[in-house]
Amino acid sequence: MDTGLTEIAALRDESRHLRDESRHRHAENIQLARALADLIGEGDRFRRAMRSGLVDDIDEEIARMLNHTVTHRGFAAQRNLWFNPPLSVRYREGDVVLAQVNERIVETPYVFRALSRVEPGATVLDVGAAESTLAVSLASLGYRVTAIDIRPYAPVHPSLETVVAPIQDWSHDGAFDVVVCVSTIEHIGLGAYGEPRADEGSDGAAMQRMRELTKPGGLLVLTVPLGEAGVNDVQRTYDHAGLQALLEGWELEDLTVARQLDPRTWVVEPQETTSVDDEARVALVTARRP
Ligand SMILES: C[S@@+](CC[C@H](N)C(=O)[O-])C[C@H]1O[C@@H](n2cnc3c(N)ncnc32)[C@H](O)[C@@H]1O
Repeated sequence: MDTGLTEIAALRDESRHLRDESRHRHAENIQLARALADLIGEGDRFRRAMRSGLVDDIDEEIARMLNHTVTHRGFAAQRNLWFNPPLSVRYREGDVVLAQVNERIVETPYVFRALSRVEPGATVLDVGAAESTLAVSLASLGYRVTAIDIRPYAPVHPSLETVVAPIQDWSHDGAFDVVVCVSTIEHIGLGAYGEPRADEGSDGAAMQRMRELTKPGGLLVLTVPLGEAGVNDVQRTYDHAGLQALLEGWELEDLTVARQLDPRTWVVEPQETTSVDDEARVALVTARRP
């Protein structure tokens, strides 16, 4: 064997050794954790839950860990693999319950309905795509999708391209048949996703850029919070005048308003309403670029 091959063989042996050692240490750590749990009297339940996989055996510690994993700060989220579920669950000792239903319960099907008249093969830009399976679903349905977000988009598909950039600054030649923007415009420029806080009016700048990126005759599908106009550190809420301002330069085709009756129930209001109260509302908009 020449010297190079000998070195490679030695490195391979060394790496196998390190891998075996690390597996061994991992097993030892689990044993240690269980031994400690036994000492403080919680070991039996922990082991029973891990072995049985039964909800009745969930203890407080396991519930806390599971609740962490399902949040936007959990383990999957730390790898950009958390997708905001419309229905969220909460683990408790010996139980798991339906916690909350968020606005995605109406927003996502609204997008699919709006796109039902758009032929597969059309180009779609999903703005603020991270945390959602929408872009990869649309790609799987046969659309040619570009997913843009200031954070990486993890799903992959042959009909899906991903861009990491703020929409308002994205320089791109060409335009799309459809631009989709779900629960995103209200956050732009506020610094809630780790980006620097920008000037007032970045939501308008983003709308303007989305218009430039839509072909004449192309569709916009937009969802935003609707209610008393306001802004906090995380998001804006638009009233009807604010929504109208966002849609300047677009021809409105549909405005559907959905309302949250209680933490688990959303309904579509019979018709556009101008009343404002404490209930969360979302405006679901389809518009066309003239
Ligand atoms: C509330 S999340 C909505 C995500 C997704 N559309 C959904 O339906 O769950 C808002 C998203 O907007 C993204 N975002 C914030 N500012 C942005 C910008 N200037 N350009 C593109 N995406 C942005 C955030 O990173 C975040 O993923």
